[in-house]
Amino acid sequence: MNAPRARIIGTGSYLPEKRMTNDDLCKIVDTSSEWISSRTGILERRVAAEDEMTSDLAAHASRRALEAAGCAPEELDLIICATSTPDLVFPATATILQRKIEAQGAKAPAFDIQAVCTGFVYALSIADQFIRSGMSKKVLVVGAETFTRILDWEDRTTCILFGDGAGAVVLEAVAGDSPQGILSTRMHADGSHVELLRVTGGISRGRPSGFDVRHEALGFVDMHGNEVFKQAVKAMGAIAEEILLANNVTVDDIDWLIPHQANRRILQATAKRINIPEERVVMTVDHHGNTSAASVPLALDEAVRDGRIKPGQLILLDAFGGGFTWASALIRW
Ligand code: ACO
Repeated sequence: MNAPRARIIGTGSYLPEKRMTNDDLCKIVDTSSEWISSRTGILERRVAAEDEMTSDLAAHASRRALEAAGCAPEELDLIICATSTPDLVFPATATILQRKIEAQGAKAPAFDIQAVCTGFVYALSIADQFIRSGMSKKVLVVGAETFTRILDWEDRTTCILFGDGAGAVVLEAVAGDSPQGILSTRMHADGSHVELLRVTGGISRGRPSGFDVRHEALGFVDMHGNEVFKQAVKAMGAIAEEILLANNVTVDDIDWLIPHQANRRILQATAKRINIPEERVVMTVDHHGNTSAASVPLALDEAVRDGRIKPGQLILLDAFGGGFTWASALIRW
């Protein structure tokens, strides 16, 4: 008998209320609306309220995904949250989320995945393995970020790019020969380029050892934009080709490419590299900015809810992020 297959039975997303336009940014750093939109395609991004944490964004998105799936929180037997901006160092944001959506009754395992902008596709791939192995039957996978909290608002090369948000999917185990579901996933990492894209401080590195624990050196996003651009296009192109080849399909079979929404020029260059027309690429970066791990599930949910994604279509998810990490997933909807 075939191993079970993971099928997405509900999607959901959430954006904080506060909008920050490019004009708003011009009041903070030396930039122009025209520079930001022409270089990145971003027109506005959302910023979480002061009392809103990553788990709050994740909880809103998760409730919407559960509702769309017709799934009660206690039915979940695994929760994975992809984030680089967790509420706390520990416990995992996934456990805080479990409590917020009242799913704790089932005592299902809950953990975070940190692969920056690739986080959601990594988490989806892990959930897929849990379902294929028979370990899990109903899984919540979330990508959620409050990335604006780790930005240096004096650095115009980075603060213009990112936004906050969350996206979620509910996966269900279906028969292995079911035509719908996750057909395949691919994951890669290459730690040679850590310095090109990182947060400059943290716990083990950012704080001195000893007793001065009040020392704050958590750091900010630091990026070599030009290099990241080139690496992102190369890796996203290569992993798209890798998964298509492995599944014996061509780019012509793909109905929708849903790439990580880094910026419009990266998406256009990736689309060109794999030869898919832009009309078949879901782009939300104009109104979301780069929401890191939340970007793919946010774009997915938008395209599901506005009716672009239809049953039977072939969907390719493709992401790249700090590490570097990159991953793809091929889904028959
Ligand atoms: N406003 C006005 N001018 C700016 C700004 C700004 N916000 N930021 C940089 N500039 C200036 C620079 O100072 C530079 O000026 P100079 O020529 O006088 O030195 C000039 O604009 C050109 O700078 P570049 O860095 O060469 O600009 P580039 O065309 O490469 O665009 C950008 C920068 C948008 C960051 C681009 O490199 C990029 O898209 N990189 C990809 C990075 C990315 O999206 N990262 C997201 C995280 S990674 C991920 O999600 C995959």
